[in-house]
Amino acid sequence: MTATLIDGKAFAAKVRGQVAEHVARLKQDHGITPGLAVVLVGEDPASQVYVRSKGKQTVEVGMNSFEHKLEADTSEADLLALIDQLNNDPAVHGILVQLPLPKHLDEDLVINSIAPEKDVDGFHISNVGLLGTGQKSMVPCTPLGCLMMLRDHHGSLSGMDAVVIGRSNIVGKPMAQLLLGDSCTVTIAHSRTKDLPDVVRRADIVVAAVGRPEMVPGDWIKEGATVIDVGINRIERDGKNVLVGDVDFASAAERAGAITPVPGGVGPMTIACLLANTVTACCRANNLAEPEGLTA
Ligand code: GUN
Repeated sequence: MTATLIDGKAFAAKVRGQVAEHVARLKQDHGITPGLAVVLVGEDPASQVYVRSKGKQTVEVGMNSFEHKLEADTSEADLLALIDQLNNDPAVHGILVQLPLPKHLDEDLVINSIAPEKDVDGFHISNVGLLGTGQKSMVPCTPLGCLMMLRDHHGSLSGMDAVVIGRSNIVGKPMAQLLLGDSCTVTIAHSRTKDLPDVVRRADIVVAAVGRPEMVPGDWIKEGATVIDVGINRIERDGKNVLVGDVDFASAAERAGAITPVPGGVGPMTIACLLANTVTACCRANNLAEPEGLTA
């Protein structure tokens, strides 16, 4: 392997440390404890794991964690009533409704009922619009984590050719907006893109976020490019369950200048950025200076 490894696990620990310092200062200087409310509807096993992890890390950095677990058959009216209560609770600075929601609930309606300034996922239509127009917004956690790692590795991203593979609302589209905001020339590629290998071969920065195990082979990667692998895919290999990304790590690491591993790359950054967004939301709610380096 010739590429530098971008260690998301270590970077996330550093971000959590910065968040914890800021939380301590908010408590000491202003008597304010940031609070994050996480709402889980139903019993999706993967969501339960994520929510537990979010609650644990929230407490570890000194913030208040409010967990709301609702039955799978909760009505839309009841869920909206809970969100309204959290929107009006001054102890709650961030609200996250874990997705996916059970089929009978309208995800767009639910997300757009969260107060935009408490929308620490950055999924509310107002935050999407603010990000798209280069205004101050809440930024989705996974793309924010990718941006932090890219800025840390490169310093300035200005003028670089970036290709984002995947056009989801959660990762692909906001990632492209953030890279554009940092003056990259951005291409969003997807399943209908013609000549995808050639498009990827032009990129100085490749962000893969498609959810298809190892779909990007090393020979698509330009020599020296930086590869950010957002994929977390569970596959069976040699009779064992293993996690792999959207990029074939072994061959890509032979050509890339820098690459994130899976696991231990982008994954740990997502919750770290959720905590960062909660502190940011708390500071904005109280007209206090925002933590430096933890926002876009
Ligand atoms: N489910 C999977 N990823 C996410 C995320 O980033 N936010 C929320 N709310 N739900 C998710």
